[in-house]
Amino acid sequence: FSNFLTDTFSRQHNYLRISITEKCNLRCTYCMPAEGVQLSASDKLLSTDEILRLARLFVSEGVTKIRLTGGEPTVRPDIIELVQGIGELKQHGLINLGMTSNGIALKRKLPKLVDAGMDSLNVSLDTLDKDMFEMITRRKGFERVLESVHQALDLGMPSVKINCVVIRGINDREVSNFVALTKDLPLTVRFIEYMPFDGNRWNVEKLVPYKEMIQDIESRFGKFEKETDDPNDTTKAYRLPGYAGKVGFITSMSDHFCGTCNRLRITTDGNLKVCLFGPAEVSLRDHMRQSTNDQELCEIIGMAVKKKKKQHAGMFELAAQKNRPMILIGG
Ligand code: GTP
Ligand code: 5AD
Ligand code: SF4
Repeated sequence: FSNFLTDTFSRQHNYLRISITEKCNLRCTYCMPAEGVQLSASDKLLSTDEILRLARLFVSEGVTKIRLTGGEPTVRPDIIELVQGIGELKQHGLINLGMTSNGIALKRKLPKLVDAGMDSLNVSLDTLDKDMFEMITRRKGFERVLESVHQALDLGMPSVKINCVVIRGINDREVSNFVALTKDLPLTVRFIEYMPFDGNRWNVEKLVPYKEMIQDIESRFGKFEKETDDPNDTTKAYRLPGYAGKVGFITSMSDHFCGTCNRLRITTDGNLKVCLFGPAEVSLRDHMRQSTNDQELCEIIGMAVKKKKKQHAGMFELAAQKNRPMILIGG
């Protein structure tokens, strides 16, 4: 495994998250401020070729998993071309290609994306109530999201997950409705602890720690069985006996998983971001545009990776930390 992608805590970064657009067709309150965000000038964004060059480079250094994020990745006009191009890297070591999407505009594109090599789809859906959906996302489209989830299952995608960010007083009463979905559907519902980002008005009262969710679910449904987690998983996975699908918890706040972190991020404007919460970024775009060769790029990436901190600052100080709003990171 590449020395460039190994940090000073021996963590091997074989999972690359590429944000391909800053735009989104929803306006989720927990992800972006009401007034929206300042978008980068279009000449500051990575082109199709630049994204494919970076994907190729990271795979040649040992990345085996790539996830496309946003904003909303389907908003980008060249999304099929990108998935196709990255999909071809499966001949060179890439194992898993995924996307995290809000599911609003997937329907027409999903079959082509699957054909082009997309294995895994994570759909963000925080409520099963149409009115609540419009409140959280400030937009319409609840039915389309559900349709996308079913379509992904019908297409036989190897992995389909629902991401549900749980916010106390907003959607915490819906947890059991989401769990009920896993009775017959072979998907994973993941409850995500609400994290603080610039402009999302996080506070500790809105956080529901996963242990509380587990207690609540088990008091209604009976005991969970523990599923085995991959060593670098963000998720603690469970299943109710006899259920088709799984329930997972992403415990970023109450039990972080920085010790096994294998993730690097590239922002839409071409910065390498070594930690979701750390402000440290380095522009790969600028280097690529100065005709830096692959070896030199690797060295620049290596230097950034070596500066990665052991973990982000104490959980509850995160709120005060300088960072991008979530929409400009991609999760
Ligand atoms: P899988 O590859 O299916 O396991 O997905 P994933 O969890 O890696 O990615 P996804 O985009 O579905 O993100 C789900 C949630 O996990 C989001 O809230 C992300 O912000 C969070 N998440 C992903 N990676 C990290 C990470 O490195 N650190 C922390 N703290 N949270 C993360
Ligand atoms: N806390 C936790 N998860 C979040 N996401 C967006 N904002 C937050 C937040 N503040 C989730 C989205 C998406 C994933 C990429 O990150 O719901 O599923
Ligand atoms: Fe990795 Fe940073 Fe996430 Fe921790 S917070 S798991 S170090 S990306």
